[in-house]
Amino acid sequence: MTNTGVLSFVENVINYVLGNPYLLATLILLYIFIFALSVLFSGPKPGKNPFSQRHVRPVGKLVTDQSIRDKVLKQRFKTAKVPENLDAIIIGSGIGGLSAAVLLSRAGKKVLVLEQHDQAGGCCHTFHDKGFEFDTGVHYIGKMHKGATNRIFMDQLTGGAVEYPLMDEDFDIVALGNPAKARRYPIPASREKYQERLIAKFPKEEAAIKKFMKMLKDAEGFALGYVALKMAPKWLAKLLVITGLYKLIFKPYAKYSTLTLRKALDDMTDDDELKAVMCYIWGDYGVLPTKASFGLHSMLMNHYFEGAYYIRGGPTEIVLQMIPVIENYGGRVLVNAPVSEILMSAGRAVGVKLRKGESEVDIFARNIISDAGVSNTFKRLLPKEVATKSCIYPMLQKVGESLSYITLFVGLNGTKEELGIKAHNCWSHTRLDQENAAEEFIAMSLDDAVHSEFPIIFVSFPSAKDPNWHDTNPDKSTCLVITLSPYKWFSQWENERVKNRGDDYERYKQQISHQIWEQTCQLYPQLQDKVEYMDLGTPVSNRYYLGFQQGEMYGLDHAMQRFLPEAATELRAKTDIPGLFLTGQDIMTCGLTGALYGGLFCAGEILHRNLYNDLMALRKEIKKQQ
Ligand SMILES: Cc1cc2nc3c(=O)[nH]c(=O)nc-3n(C[C@H](O)[C@H](O)[C@H](O)COP(=O)(O)OP(=O)(O)OC[C@H]3O[C@@H](n4cnc5c(N)ncnc54)[C@H](O)[C@@H]3O)c2cc1C
Ligand SMILES: *[C@@H]1O[C@H](CO)[C@@H](O)[C@H](O)[C@H]1NC(C)=O
Repeated sequence: MTNTGVLSFVENVINYVLGNPYLLATLILLYIFIFALSVLFSGPKPGKNPFSQRHVRPVGKLVTDQSIRDKVLKQRFKTAKVPENLDAIIIGSGIGGLSAAVLLSRAGKKVLVLEQHDQAGGCCHTFHDKGFEFDTGVHYIGKMHKGATNRIFMDQLTGGAVEYPLMDEDFDIVALGNPAKARRYPIPASREKYQERLIAKFPKEEAAIKKFMKMLKDAEGFALGYVALKMAPKWLAKLLVITGLYKLIFKPYAKYSTLTLRKALDDMTDDDELKAVMCYIWGDYGVLPTKASFGLHSMLMNHYFEGAYYIRGGPTEIVLQMIPVIENYGGRVLVNAPVSEILMSAGRAVGVKLRKGESEVDIFARNIISDAGVSNTFKRLLPKEVATKSCIYPMLQKVGESLSYITLFVGLNGTKEELGIKAHNCWSHTRLDQENAAEEFIAMSLDDAVHSEFPIIFVSFPSAKDPNWHDTNPDKSTCLVITLSPYKWFSQWENERVKNRGDDYERYKQQISHQIWEQTCQLYPQLQDKVEYMDLGTPVSNRYYLGFQQGEMYGLDHAMQRFLPEAATELRAKTDIPGLFLTGQDIMTCGLTGALYGGLFCAGEILHRNLYNDLMALRKEIKKQQ
């Protein structure tokens, strides 16, 4: 190119940019964004990078001796165990709390994690009864193949000591209609196979199916917009929202956060059976298709297309490997430690109060982090006058809490081969009009509900997903069945003692267990006479073990409001109360992965580092070596 050629090229570019106001505005904003990031991260001195390849060791043998595991998982609170000069106190030992704790520890901070239950882990905890070990809140996770960003992140947190066995390729089975004669649709962990299968079953709907697949792919950018609003400095996020510019920069986010799943499906096809198959998984985020955004739905569908994974040794294995990392840097994870109040001084969160029976202990630290959920934090832990002044408080009203649930825990006599159970989950929807069915059911009284069919049940076989399970449990298996339940059905028993809530409560439990198990055995008749153990967890059990006041399944609700720009911007790690930070599912999305990244953003705020960039840099380094 000649000199004049270059000049006219530059001129053309300038004219083009000036002629496209949107592009111009985007460029200006991009510049401001980068400038803001540089200001933000050159402000206070950034902490140490917690990521390094050196943190990852080869996977060792599973520790199966429960007394050794309990020495890590069940360290009871004693004032003498509290380390001195704490950098941070973390309320709650769910994966969001522990992920922030490990990252801060690796950056040289001393942290104390306080857990109200008698063991660490939150939704990752498991419990033992009559020779069976049961999971409570993790059944499958996606994107855990070697080399995946999420896997690299998880390996950093656990020292690489946890393995993630792949579940069956058909990781979910959708069972529609009467469970005894259900029409089954296996869901494969592959975009191509999923499309092929659907077309084979619904040949007339090929165009609709292809459109659905295209929209799922197109919506992959949804998460980017949602997360960017939480990561960018708040003033910038607000500017993008007020000017509407976010709609231009994050197109898939803008497009798919306001489109309901129901509308997307209705626009696509009139085939109710196909629509039921396309939306079967809404139980994973707990919102009916009329209230869920297509963006959220696509996030979940896309999550499993590269494989669904379980955790070798069960979900507590992650917890078991994270705690020693925290301890290595002088921190502790203590249980039986219910925080009753966040202590304030001169407008700043400075500590927590622990109340146990008669005695009280105050503990102080520079940073207070809550993994106990936004609702608990703002309705119960903060002084009322502080909570109500925060800009997060109105979000609680806007977004609301998620629904509660019931879990049937079943211990079975036999190996997975003998019982013919697989490394999959089954979603049974008894009616195609899933939202009417669910709404009618939730509106019932408990007395009516116990004699009715449960319109949606989720059946999972944790033991069949863990290749090492039968090493320690040679002739036993486990099955979990989960379904929706409004909290109000059980609220009258919320103040009774656990395991001693009286005859009425036990009678309802029996009736529900019977009904749920009958439906399960219609799907899996071979299990009928193999039951060795059965117990039911109700919304008040969830409240007791996980600390959610309404027994919520996923913390804050996941209906559209939560993902719209306003709530997306406000629900972030750094609060407007100095010294107080949030982590876990409520500042991202529910799911192990969501809670994990909640911890990343939270630790990033405290360390004044963009930890996401640090993680990506590590990923690059690892890739280069391979
Ligand atoms: C039934 C069920 C099934 C699920 N299935 C899956 C799945 O298959 N895949 C998946 O990825 N995700 C699944 N999830 C979601 C996932 O488990 C959660 O989103 C995630 O683990 C939440 O982590 P967290 O750290 O935000 O909160 P939590 O794990 O809930 O941790 C919060 C902790 O805070 C503690 N706490 C509360 N109040 C106090 C207090 N005052 N003082 C001290 N401690 C307190 C609680 O006891 C709890 O341990 C499921 C959840 C449920 C309920
Ligand atoms: C388990 O099944 C085996 C073989 O079917 C049987 O012999 C045994 O008694 C059963 N155990 C229990 C506890 O039901």
